[in-house]
Amino acid sequence: MTATIETAETAETAQAAETAARAALGTAAGTAAVRLSGVGKSFRGGATPVLDGIDLDVAPGEFVCLLGASGCGKSTLLNLVAGLDAPSTGSIEVPSGRAALMFQESALFPWLTAGENIELALRLRGVSGRRERRAEAERLLELVRLRGSHAKRPHQLSGGMRQRVALARALAQGGKVLLMDEPFAALDAITRDVLHEELIRLWESTGLAVLFVTHNVREAVRLGQRVVLLSSRPGRVARQWRVDIPQPRRIEDKDVADLSVEITEHLREEISRHGR
Ligand SMILES: Nc1ncnc2c1ncn2[C@@H]1O[C@H](COP(=O)(O)OP(=O)(O)O)[C@@H](O)[C@H]1O
Ligand SMILES: [Mg+2]
Repeated sequence: MTATIETAETAETAQAAETAARAALGTAAGTAAVRLSGVGKSFRGGATPVLDGIDLDVAPGEFVCLLGASGCGKSTLLNLVAGLDAPSTGSIEVPSGRAALMFQESALFPWLTAGENIELALRLRGVSGRRERRAEAERLLELVRLRGSHAKRPHQLSGGMRQRVALARALAQGGKVLLMDEPFAALDAITRDVLHEELIRLWESTGLAVLFVTHNVREAVRLGQRVVLLSSRPGRVARQWRVDIPQPRRIEDKDVADLSVEITEHLREEISRHGR
């Protein structure tokens, strides 16, 4: 069902392993949706770098979950891919252009309606006609199953509905890469479960490459075609698993649970290594 792609304790072996993983995954050079090569990140005053020697490709249309303990540098890495910050070392390529980023908090503009939030993204993308933007916003709202919510303001929507609008807004940006930073972490389990289903449905229908950050092992295995475990201090690719369990998966499936147990053990090791 599943296979460990690599184990790497040092940056050098991580690089060799990523080369092997690239070959195994069939991502030839230049065709990746996202490519990180030797990426490191230090903040001023920080003794050890937050990220170090990260080599990682996300293939077009691939769904990759980035898993790690809290504070290990997941958000830092995602922000780098989103272009919100620059790496201290190495390079990041997103050949299709800028990637859309979605956070735990929907970050919708509270003074705009759901529809207007989406229309703003369309305008920034260069969709010029007002009527065109309106129609596209309606289509995207329907896609995230929020038909009829165009005029609602964020405070009138539940947390789950706000994340749907945020997803529609991310789709409105028209990119080929979607970056998600623990987007469902603040939601209750049932709402999260439904949104997992919706996200997989959207991913399958849009062909987007998704880089999904989580500290929740089950969520990573529920969603990803590949789970990449980051170590802490510095954040490096510690290990990867390919998840061959067919979708639709459920979080309570035995296969999902079994692989989660295995991955949790490795995550625990990473955490105990740093005395957390
Ligand atoms: N702008 C910043 N300046 C200094 N330190 C930062 C900054 N952003 C993040 N860090 C540090 O980098 C580490 C990783 O943070 P983060 O990427 O948010 O972790 P995660 O998302 O995995 O929980 C933390 O120790 C955090 O304090
Ligand atoms: Mg984070």
